[in-house]
Amino acid sequence: MGEEPRILGEALPFEEKIELKNWAGRHVGIESYFEYHRKTLENFEEFWLSVAKELDWFSPPSKAVEPGDYPYVYKWFPDGRINISYLALDRHVRSWRKNKVAYIWEGEPVDPDGRPKEVKKYTYYDLWREVNRVAYVLSRNFGLKKGDKIAIYLPMIPELPIFMLAAARLGIIFTVVFAGFTAENLATRINDLGATLLVTVDGFYRRGKVIRLKDVADRAIEKSPSIKNVIVVRRLGIDVNMVDGRDYWLDELLKGVPQNAYVEPERLESTHPLYVLYTSGTTGKPKGIIHDHGGYAVLLHATMKWVFDVRDDDIFYCTADIGWVTGHSYIVFGPLIEGLTTVFYEGVPDYPAPDRWWSMVERYGVTVFYTTPTAVRMLMRYGDEWVRKHDRSSLRLIHSVGEPINPSAWRWLFEVVGEKRCPVGSTWWMTETGGILISKAPGLALVPLKPGANGPPLPGVDADVVDEDGNPVEPGKKGFLVIKRPFPGMPAPPTGMWGDPQRYAQVYFERIKGKGYFYTGDYAVKDKDGYIWVLGRADEVLKVAGHRIGTYELESVLVSHKAVAEAAVVGIPDPVKGEVPIAYVVLKQGFEPSQQIIEELKEWVRKNYGPIAVPNNIFLVTKLPKTRSGKIMRRLVKAVATGAPLGDITTLEDEAAVDEVKKAYEEFVKAVKESRTA
Ligand code: WT7
Repeated sequence: MGEEPRILGEALPFEEKIELKNWAGRHVGIESYFEYHRKTLENFEEFWLSVAKELDWFSPPSKAVEPGDYPYVYKWFPDGRINISYLALDRHVRSWRKNKVAYIWEGEPVDPDGRPKEVKKYTYYDLWREVNRVAYVLSRNFGLKKGDKIAIYLPMIPELPIFMLAAARLGIIFTVVFAGFTAENLATRINDLGATLLVTVDGFYRRGKVIRLKDVADRAIEKSPSIKNVIVVRRLGIDVNMVDGRDYWLDELLKGVPQNAYVEPERLESTHPLYVLYTSGTTGKPKGIIHDHGGYAVLLHATMKWVFDVRDDDIFYCTADIGWVTGHSYIVFGPLIEGLTTVFYEGVPDYPAPDRWWSMVERYGVTVFYTTPTAVRMLMRYGDEWVRKHDRSSLRLIHSVGEPINPSAWRWLFEVVGEKRCPVGSTWWMTETGGILISKAPGLALVPLKPGANGPPLPGVDADVVDEDGNPVEPGKKGFLVIKRPFPGMPAPPTGMWGDPQRYAQVYFERIKGKGYFYTGDYAVKDKDGYIWVLGRADEVLKVAGHRIGTYELESVLVSHKAVAEAAVVGIPDPVKGEVPIAYVVLKQGFEPSQQIIEELKEWVRKNYGPIAVPNNIFLVTKLPKTRSGKIMRRLVKAVATGAPLGDITTLEDEAAVDEVKKAYEEFVKAVKESRTA
């Protein structure tokens, strides 16, 4: 791990410090931040307990954390009683925020003059009423109760947060499946969770096109025997297949519900599962990460305050999709717990033109903006005039998330979008952590900015960069990012990973032996000031446009095609998406390499995994480099794909002799040269 650390090929400005003198807030030096940080770790339990006490508990916790029933599964605030739907809604409905706008929702379609055709505003009271009525349907019409499981397969429409909050209210465990996923992916998730009810939609708009989602859901249900009922939201009013006695339109169900229906929120144990969200790992099927009500709510509350510095007059806009964890935490639960006004939008950022987001910033007076590096790099390419033609003077804080941000994309956000007025950050976290753990915290104290850095760990978070044995590496050197102590928001009881406590322990805690550290799977550098810079994944997981894709999953999809004998997928750097997959495929005997087969395989991936995973290139080769024991030498495949020198590889490849690696490498290079590509 000796090479110069870079992000997307760009050198990292470890020494550069930008001070924003005129930013309204508390500014501190790095040393005083770390002094405070050290104190929070010294009084770890009291510290987190004091943060927890800021929330409304039915019965407040007396203890921060204790071990759960499986190794490395912890119970946060174990004796507290809470309900996140109560925190997000009821609390505000009882206050002056009752008629404050909670959501400003914008549909994708626009009029000929470019103005959005549909904008809906929900006050906290509106939202509370809708959530109660939907909770009423879930419990009265379908008999669902605490501990039952449902799947939600919805696009970015208001019913998505409404169903999440309604389920939470009753203690029903839900999984949201991203609406861009295929029937196959939906079925896998439903089956792993054992969901009995599916919520979906007739269809929705994406880049001006109609997506018929109910048709996809129907194909999944064929493979998901646990689903007894389907609730269908009418978004478009198109004709869809409805199965008698199984499928129900939401609007028809709601006709039977009193306008003022009230469903008492369950007084849940803090550790009660709120949701399970599936994410890709190195091997096997996607992992169902469990998040609880109490610990998760505490981390969200803390990070909304520290990282986003939220105030009651903020207009908060997180551009993620609610189908991913970012949307769960920072469109739904985080901003609602804080009683904010949040913008959310159905469609893509460049429809009808590349200024859609900036026009929303202008029209709604967005103050805090949270987005992704891939989107930034894409929008940069359209040119600055799309940004500059809109008034952005309302903006006061900008953060990015999902993948490392290269310094030049950071500078564009800072200089062009934020006009050098707004702190720009890169908040590090992952599906497993539930909320942000490493980031500048301007709401608490603003330290100098560094283009591309994540920043110091947040208070109460014990993060470090270590070697294989868990020993800290020197500043400036690349190592593995670990979290040395449990944190609220971490994978929750009963098993951390749904149905698989052994895999949970193995993947996250046994990779670095004997220390009990949470292994993130990321490479990182800590600079001399103590700022952490996450560089990218250290495992066989890709980050394509910020989305996590297991190379193993993608290989499985390819190998399930009738023509494919073997496949190896690796990621190569991409100037916009950060990383893209390419595949090397060995065909079965009897199949001739052709352009047509390549196109067929791309279509196969699109259908069976989703458009985000379609390889940029497929090479049809006659062999893959393997060890004597038959294992594909992945680093070697990667070296060939990226043009990295072989010298870097031999030292890393400990399973095979150097000669063997060299021979396999040469043969593979030859096979690739002779191959057909697309
Ligand atoms: C992985 C987690 C966190 C919500 C969205 C992604 C990468 C995430 C950053 C950042 C560098 C980042 C890491 C991490 N990542 N944020 N600010 N800087 N890398 O959640 O899909 O679970 O992916 O995303 O590699 O492990 P996720």
